[in-house]
Amino acid sequence: MPLAVAGRLAKLAAMTLLPALVLPLPDAEATARLGQTLAPMLRPGDVLLLEGPIGAGKTHFARALIQTRQAAAGVPREDVPSPSFTLIQTYQAGDAEIWHADLFRLSAPEETDELGLTDAFDAAICLVEWPERLGHDAPTNALHLRFAYAGEGRTVVLAAQGARWAPVLGALGQRFAQGAG
Ligand SMILES: Nc1ncnc2c1ncn2[C@@H]1O[C@H](COP(=O)(O)OP(=O)(O)OP(=O)(O)O)[C@@H](O)[C@H]1O
Ligand SMILES: [Mg+2]
Repeated sequence: MPLAVAGRLAKLAAMTLLPALVLPLPDAEATARLGQTLAPMLRPGDVLLLEGPIGAGKTHFARALIQTRQAAAGVPREDVPSPSFTLIQTYQAGDAEIWHADLFRLSAPEETDELGLTDAFDAAICLVEWPERLGHDAPTNALHLRFAYAGEGRTVVLAAQGARWAPVLGALGQRFAQGAG
């Protein structure tokens, strides 16, 4: 195969997100349980891009994740309001800082820098609602969670590229299934 073609193919493969895990979320409790299950598996530098329409459960998921992480760190559990007006809320959970962002009202991708979010992507655990607003500034090594309506409930597709997420998704799928029922 000519080198140029191979190079283009490799680039295409790197851009393609493999849908790695599809989970049914029949009720709000299931969405919370997903956040609780994923919480202990994260470390600073992990970015979760929470995609999906209004009311899909992005904040509900983030709240459960943050509160679980705080409980595990032995710090008082905080309310986790939707950051739709503040754009960013930050939390301390032991050694890890957690940034919860809702970029629906972001006026330009350049604002990401001003908010400090670009630095936080490297240093904190970041949960980002409406990540489409990031444009090309979205980190390529992030885990995508795509929430969608399904009848009265929701489904979520988790997808990523890179070596970081394959083992996490494998373990998450198992633990989430074990907790069901
Ligand atoms: N799996 C589910 N099945 C049914 N209801 C759910 C599920 N997950 C969350 N919900 C409910 O959906 C409602 C909206 O959730 P939430 O505020 O988290 O949405 P959101 O995606 O953050 O919306 P926005 O884009 O406006 O920020 C909440 O009342 C929540 O309890
Ligand atoms: Mg929200």
